[in-house]
Amino acid sequence: MKIVVNTDVSKGIINKNIYGQFSEHLGRCIYEGLWVGEDSAIPNTNGIRNDVLGALKELDIPVLRWPGGCFADEYHWKDGIGPRENRKRMVNTHWGGVVENNHFGTHEFMMLCDLLETEPYINGNVGSGTVQEMSEWVEYMTFDGESPMANWRQENGRKEPWKLTYFGVGNENWGCGGNMRPQYYADLYRRFQTYVRDYGDNKIYKIAGGPNVDDYNWTEVLMREATPFMDGLSLHYYVHPGGFENKGSAVNFSEKEWEISMQKAYYMEELIERHSTIMDKYDPEKRVALIVDEWGGWYDVEPGTNPGFLYQQNTIRDALIAGLTLNIFHNHNDRVQMANIAQMVNVIQAMVLTEADKMLRTPTYHVFHMYKVHQDAERIYLDIDTKMLEVDGKEYPQVSASASKTATGEVNISLCNLDKNEDVTLTIDVRGMNASAASAEVITSENMRDHNTFENPDKITPKKLNNVTLDQGLITVTLPKMAVSTLKIK
Ligand code: AHR
Repeated sequence: MKIVVNTDVSKGIINKNIYGQFSEHLGRCIYEGLWVGEDSAIPNTNGIRNDVLGALKELDIPVLRWPGGCFADEYHWKDGIGPRENRKRMVNTHWGGVVENNHFGTHEFMMLCDLLETEPYINGNVGSGTVQEMSEWVEYMTFDGESPMANWRQENGRKEPWKLTYFGVGNENWGCGGNMRPQYYADLYRRFQTYVRDYGDNKIYKIAGGPNVDDYNWTEVLMREATPFMDGLSLHYYVHPGGFENKGSAVNFSEKEWEISMQKAYYMEELIERHSTIMDKYDPEKRVALIVDEWGGWYDVEPGTNPGFLYQQNTIRDALIAGLTLNIFHNHNDRVQMANIAQMVNVIQAMVLTEADKMLRTPTYHVFHMYKVHQDAERIYLDIDTKMLEVDGKEYPQVSASASKTATGEVNISLCNLDKNEDVTLTIDVRGMNASAASAEVITSENMRDHNTFENPDKITPKKLNNVTLDQGLITVTLPKMAVSTLKIK
């Protein structure tokens, strides 16, 4: 199998925001996973648990979406400010019917972003909120001066406004965000966004609620009716091997389910291409970005856990889903400017899992860590000649790849072998540079169901890949079966 990389041929910058995360008031993502409160026995910084914070900081997370998801369209931000003991206790109707005590609100989220050195991406409420409520939230967060909301923020302990760039106007408004038709949402979007103001030099990047998977009509209507009013359009797509109703087990899956998962993950490419084609019609300059602000492998919850909490394990299969999806995003960097995997902690395809005071890094975490060299790097030309695999009459490649060059000239090629049975030897012809050294890390495991547990948290971690040779610009590397690797060339 052969790859040609030309380090001289630039394909534009890979926006670091593709490495964004998502944290919703859902299950144990916020409460327990991130927020334990200042009085917790679990070591914390201002209420945020230190173990999780430390692990997440190592990922250089560029942007974090909050408070939902479906939760966003029933969240009323004024319930989550002021003294914590006075905050409204409400029912999280969408996720498990549990009490939401609003202890984690705007100030706590902004503090988390500061601690992580990440940019906030706030998702406003269109489904059950008002224009005034949304408008006042932006005023509360970003206005520097005398105004009812800015004064209130100061009374609540925050003098300076926060910098807020990314703002979503509703979430899944075709479903949990109000069951709207695209024409209706397009009009509401135009109306709500009008009052999402830029105060001072804070410039809001407005993201419209986009389609569900392959709802191309939604994209067509939104782009036709609202292009001048948006900076980004979102897209949500999850891999459910058995379909939404019977997703399948996160760990005890069959070989066929592995194959279906790979093929379904690869479908992201078709979705991006087809939605982009529609966007091109209304926005040929590609000013409006496609923001894939929910993606990942979503399975049945872990047996015995609350079905509304979406807690699932994370195997080497998830490492492959992450690696190949990130490669797809890199390779569509002309339109995809942000993506937010669902979700950061304890929910769906998480980076870390927690159990009381224990924490583990998932295989997906290790992929994000290994791939962070691509953040804001220059994508370079790559051509791959790969064997195609097939399941249920649908094809997908055995090897997925992408390449970029850092500001200091180091070239990184990320490779995924989707095959669960066969290793693959690749010859990589590196043109445009005098390569003097090549080395690689790999994330792999013997069994497709392998995962990290609280008893054995480092079963799957990145290892050095030994069989990398470089001879006159030609690199030979053997990728084990089920492997995600990043090859560094200097
Ligand atoms: O990520 C879980 C849920 O999936 C989100 O709340 C919603 O937007 C999507 O349907």
